Amino acid sequence: MYIGIPQETRAGETRVAATPETVKKYVAQGHKVVVQAGAGVSASQPDGAYEAVGATIGTAAEALGAQLVLKVRAPDAAELAQMKPGAVLIGMLNPFDADNNARMSAANITAFALEAAPRTTRAQSMDVLSSQANIAGYKAVLVAAHHYQRFMPMLMTAAGTVKAARVLILGAGVAGLQAIATAKRLGAVIEASDVRPAVKEQIESLGAKFLDVPFLTDEEREIAQGVGGYARPMPPDWMKRQAELVHQRAVQADIVITTALIPGRKAPVLLQETTVAQMKPGSVVVDLAAAQGGNCPLTVADEVVNHNGVIIIGHTNLASMVAADASALYARNVLDFLKLVVDKDGQFTLNLEDDIVSACLMCRDGKVVREAA
Ligand code: NAI
Repeated sequence: MYIGIPQETRAGETRVAATPETVKKYVAQGHKVVVQAGAGVSASQPDGAYEAVGATIGTAAEALGAQLVLKVRAPDAAELAQMKPGAVLIGMLNPFDADNNARMSAANITAFALEAAPRTTRAQSMDVLSSQANIAGYKAVLVAAHHYQRFMPMLMTAAGTVKAARVLILGAGVAGLQAIATAKRLGAVIEASDVRPAVKEQIESLGAKFLDVPFLTDEEREIAQGVGGYARPMPPDWMKRQAELVHQRAVQADIVITTALIPGRKAPVLLQETTVAQMKPGSVVVDLAAAQGGNCPLTVADEVVNHNGVIIIGHTNLASMVAADASALYARNVLDFLKLVVDKDGQFTLNLEDDIVSACLMCRDGKVVREAA
């Protein structure tokens, strides 16, 4: 097959969907690979590294005009216009974006959104949400440390003792757990909260304290189990009790990292304006839910704001700030997914009996297959 790797065009997107490591494998499988000139440069992969493993360097039109196009983000109108009807597209296409699904199906392409893969053991090696959230959680701590005007670890020096930073992590999924691990390595004292009781053990095993908001009804207990590994919106009464506990802990904290998401919905508000108003000057909030509306109403997407001395960071693409490793892991996710849709003769094959393939398929033959929830 003719595989194209275009350069990402979205502002701030530095990742690339294939690295020399994965391109080498595609070439060995007999595919022709065209990489757009400069596509990997922002991820520390120069054109020469792709050429060295057998790729051809081409134009945007050549990369987008391939039979199989590998991208990081959904194509915009100009990119779609350069794609061939009947082409196959694989990327993080935002399965909840109905307009985008409609645009891709109108362009008559077969599109797979990798974020829609089920959270199963078999899908783990192609789980882009995990590979990228892991990086975002790590970088969130480093960004916080950069803006925080104090040390993270406890230090005893000749000039006196420095206290360890108190870090509060809200949402302990993939990003939150990596944030805990990273903050721990820097010597912080960490507390973390999540709706899913299953994470208590994981939080504690990383050396953080679990903030427990007890369930008072069977309904609360049942909703908190989530579905498919994901959280569901909690009843207002539980959210109110959680807010009280978060308020108490956040006003004591130096750094708050929020990561709470509910797939396909606006992120829950966990850090209220009234809480931020009482936080210490110089404290830092990193809101990883900024792209989904934020876990704090004061977050401004892609901006760093200073709210009465509290720094609130709303970067929506932290993974792009670690572009080389984010691309390396993403490219391996894509490589593994391709094993499900390319047969042994190197041709595209659509096996809808495969739960991962059918979950990721967004549109085909000019029709939206999976409506955004
Ligand atoms: P996510 O990015 O959708 O959400 C982040 C975290 O926010 C989740 O832990 C969620 O429970 C939490 N959250 C939502 N509402 C909240 C609230 N009101 N208060 C506090 N926390 C709240 O989740 P992510 O990181 O994508 O993964 C969630 C879980 O999925 C993982 O922890 C894991 O259990 C499971 N998973 C399973 C995989 C597998 O089996 N292959 C792979 C990856 C994840």
